[in-house]
Amino acid sequence: MTTPADTGSRLNGRDLTLAYEQRVISQNLAVSIPDNSFTVIVGPNACGKSTLLRALSRTLKPAHGHVHLDGQVIGSYPAKEVARRLGLLPQTSIAPDGIGVADLVARGRFPHQGFLRQWSAQDEAVVAEAMDATGVTALADRSVDELSGGQRQRVWLAMVLAQQTPLLLLDEPTTYLDIAHQMDMLDLCADLHAERGYTLVAVLHDLNHACRYASHLIVMKEGAIVAEGDPAKVVTAELVEEVFGLPVRIIPDPETGTPMIVPVDRRGAAR
Ligand SMILES: Nc1ncnc2c1ncn2[C@@H]1O[C@H](COP(=O)(O)OP(=O)(O)O)[C@@H](O)[C@H]1O
Ligand SMILES: [Mg+2]
Repeated sequence: MTTPADTGSRLNGRDLTLAYEQRVISQNLAVSIPDNSFTVIVGPNACGKSTLLRALSRTLKPAHGHVHLDGQVIGSYPAKEVARRLGLLPQTSIAPDGIGVADLVARGRFPHQGFLRQWSAQDEAVVAEAMDATGVTALADRSVDELSGGQRQRVWLAMVLAQQTPLLLLDEPTTYLDIAHQMDMLDLCADLHAERGYTLVAVLHDLNHACRYASHLIVMKEGAIVAEGDPAKVVTAELVEEVFGLPVRIIPDPETGTPMIVPVDRRGAAR
């Protein structure tokens, strides 16, 4: 069932209680991912970012309330149908023992396969394109086990891209990546968003990256959304101090003009 407030959001939830057994992480949570947005979620460690992404991807069933995808309760879809509509890059993923890079990326095509729909030249082309976009083509014949953390991260992203879902949820996609690969990853996401109209939801730790790339920022603290909107309007020194407990100054990013967060030097007196 859709409600007027959900117009413009394929993926949303309201009145959500998110919990692991008795351990409640979020309560009365309402979230709407704006269609065609590059939404970035930030917040301190353990505030419930991954938990929210799990709920939005049908991995975690809310203890109360529902997540809606395309107007239907997400839990009412078969898992394969959800995988045809949205892709999830979890914070940590474990590859099957000994699997090769190309084979892992090819698994992104599974949701599109069936008894009557066998592996095709088009599947092959999609896999090749995904590997090219993430820069892992040269690793195609390597075993996933023997890759570095950053290489592995890009292989997993290639797998999610091969799913070809215009709705992607990425949990800390830049962790393990060096600074150049971080920017590559974020630029790739920005291109998917700007050129192909993808809707992206990414958890990022770097607030400056978040401010540069997000069209919609969600700031979480202790399981709640405490601020959201255009980063230029949302991000203030007061908010950052309230959420992260860190005194900061905000200056315009010299490259983009978006807010840039500079921690106040607390060690000045010690030097
Ligand atoms: N599988 C789980 N079982 C029990 N508690 C969990 C589980 N996963 C996460 N938690 C707890 O839920 C809280 C939020 O975790 P998480 O959503 O992973 O935080 P974040 O992604 O913001 O760092 C943390 O206190 C964490 O310990
Ligand atoms: Mg997390």
